[in-house]
Amino acid sequence: MQTNVELKPFKLIIRGFDEDKEGHYGTLLTLANGRISVKGLLELTGSRNNVAFMAGLYNNVPIWRRELIALPAVNNVYINNAQKESIEYVERTLDMFNGVLTTYVKLRHPNTSYFSESLVHRVHKNMYMQRISVSSSKILTITLPIENSLNPFLYGYTYTEHLRRKSVDFQGNKVSITYETRDSGLIVEISMLIATHGAEDFKHFITRDSAGFIVEGRDFVIEKYVLFRRINDEKTAEKINFVNFNWAELSQRHKESWNKLWEEIGLVVEGDEYVAGALSLYTFHLLQLIDDEAEDLMIPARGLHGLGYRGHVFWDTDVYLLPFLGLVYPEGLRKILNFRCRTLNSAVKYAAETGFKGARFPWESVDDGYESTPRYYPVDLNKCECVDILTGEQEIHISGDIAFALDFYYKVSGDREFMQRCGLKMLVEIARFWASRVEYDQDKKSYVIRNVIGPDEYHVGVSNSYYTNYLAKYSLEAAARYVVEFSKDDEFKPILTELGITWNEVENWFKLANGIYEGRVHEKVIEEFEGYFELADPDLNSEGIRRVDVKDLEDVGKTKLVKQADVVLALILKEIVEGVDPETLKRNYEYYSKYTTHESSLSLPIYATAGFMINDPSAMKLFINALKTDIENIYGNTHEGFHVATAGGIWYAVIFGILGVRLRGNELIVDPKAMNGLRIGVNLRYKGRKLRLSSS
Ligand code: BGC
Repeated sequence: MQTNVELKPFKLIIRGFDEDKEGHYGTLLTLANGRISVKGLLELTGSRNNVAFMAGLYNNVPIWRRELIALPAVNNVYINNAQKESIEYVERTLDMFNGVLTTYVKLRHPNTSYFSESLVHRVHKNMYMQRISVSSSKILTITLPIENSLNPFLYGYTYTEHLRRKSVDFQGNKVSITYETRDSGLIVEISMLIATHGAEDFKHFITRDSAGFIVEGRDFVIEKYVLFRRINDEKTAEKINFVNFNWAELSQRHKESWNKLWEEIGLVVEGDEYVAGALSLYTFHLLQLIDDEAEDLMIPARGLHGLGYRGHVFWDTDVYLLPFLGLVYPEGLRKILNFRCRTLNSAVKYAAETGFKGARFPWESVDDGYESTPRYYPVDLNKCECVDILTGEQEIHISGDIAFALDFYYKVSGDREFMQRCGLKMLVEIARFWASRVEYDQDKKSYVIRNVIGPDEYHVGVSNSYYTNYLAKYSLEAAARYVVEFSKDDEFKPILTELGITWNEVENWFKLANGIYEGRVHEKVIEEFEGYFELADPDLNSEGIRRVDVKDLEDVGKTKLVKQADVVLALILKEIVEGVDPETLKRNYEYYSKYTTHESSLSLPIYATAGFMINDPSAMKLFINALKTDIENIYGNTHEGFHVATAGGIWYAVIFGILGVRLRGNELIVDPKAMNGLRIGVNLRYKGRKLRLSSS
């Protein structure tokens, strides 16, 4: 069946059904609230990919160390074991303003119309609700199951079972199933309660891997409430009294919460329907990842929308979510950094285990904060062929990224409590890591950083990556600056004593920061890393994205091809907080544009940001291409989840590119651009104040 996607401000409408596109649409229609999520594949097709997730729930797995657990499917509805072939028409609407997904399906045999409303509650964070209305020419049998699910392993050739079903308990219209995670012994309880109106009756059913209700009738409505609880974790063990469930009241409370949030954010886009729809969609999915009750937030690279990157957390959150969570959603960046605080001890251990001092944050993090980057990845199972993955060992800029985000957070919030509790300590430990990681190079008379991978992952084991060195320098300077500032403050003195900081150490940080090698510069073009300028000049005659086969990575590393924004990103970060000579930004943007494949979805929005900053006429095209990422599935992997960093990068383009926001010293400077009729307005928060900004 033909499908068609229509995007309007705060509305996404998908018509038709095509099994091949369901994975993609399932991500776009995923519902979440930062604590739980329910994947949005069509509920009538019995897809076992309609899994659910709970933030922070991981279990051990070979290769990836730990991965996010796919929880049982709770949204599938089986009508007379309806076959996909009997689907005549499907129309699904994601109403982002209210946080509600509606699904209308017309079935041919028997002649049936099906309508459902689903939501993942924004206030009652553990709850998913679904209200089903069915009308048919014949008596129907409807099955409403909770179905065990498995995590696919190695391209789906085999599966990992992370959960063991422990008990199933029926009490009237409620079923509760408990599961135990295999390694950590956490107990997850999933309960489903139904209320039927107009149906004949309901029965319980239980099989080896599912349990739930069977309802019979012709013209009826079923309200379904599903609760997810981590029994041995007080924070998520919300207790709701199941007795007085009232659909109208609960859904009203949910909608009001969304409406209020949107009003606070005040996002208005005029003059371009696609930009308006796309920006509201990316923003909606970002907002769906924030649990406003949680102390800390672990946002996986693909959100709670799929198992891409196994639910691991990368620099994507600290760097890419920085403008959105720092300036649009108050508290968001603090929660992201709280996750880093919670795992600071693991980072300290990691540094020590690898021969360094201070805190070394893992490139890929999970719930326990230990390095979880796979060491190798199987590329050909028949030949047992694997490629080595060195990002865990070498992509050390992550620690600098966290320091940058932390400094940014303090500048926009002035949150002393955070600094006192953990921020200062984290900055100090990160500076100690860099101080132990840099080496003095006699010839260069500078401090150098060897054997790293910068954001451009095509080049492995390089020395003096401009991006990495810049972030190392920034971290050392920031730590020294804050220690000097807070040393005058009585409230901070005990922390400085506890950290055992001496003035020699602080002076050393200043010395290292000033002496870090900055690399070669040719006519204002900064060399990405040592030796880059001498690499082969590839013929990159393609516009848009280009893919490189992992097996060819070694060859690609011998060329100037760049995977994603690298020097350009470093310059953007610098421009935001310090300022960069516009000609330097322009030359680097033009030069590296020629070589960048944008194979990573983190790239296009950053180039768009730079483009807007230097008034390049093609910036808008880059911005639109970035917006297409998940909507048009341009990377072909949206079924594995939502591209969180792309969404964050789109907000870079809006806030720093279009609205011209800069942080200079203690001031927030704004210089919105005239956008040829495109008006983007949003409320920003700065040090507790609300500022309304808009492009003209
Ligand atoms: C990118 C990284 C990113 C990761 C997760 C990779 O392809 O190169 O920069 O952190 O994806 O999104």
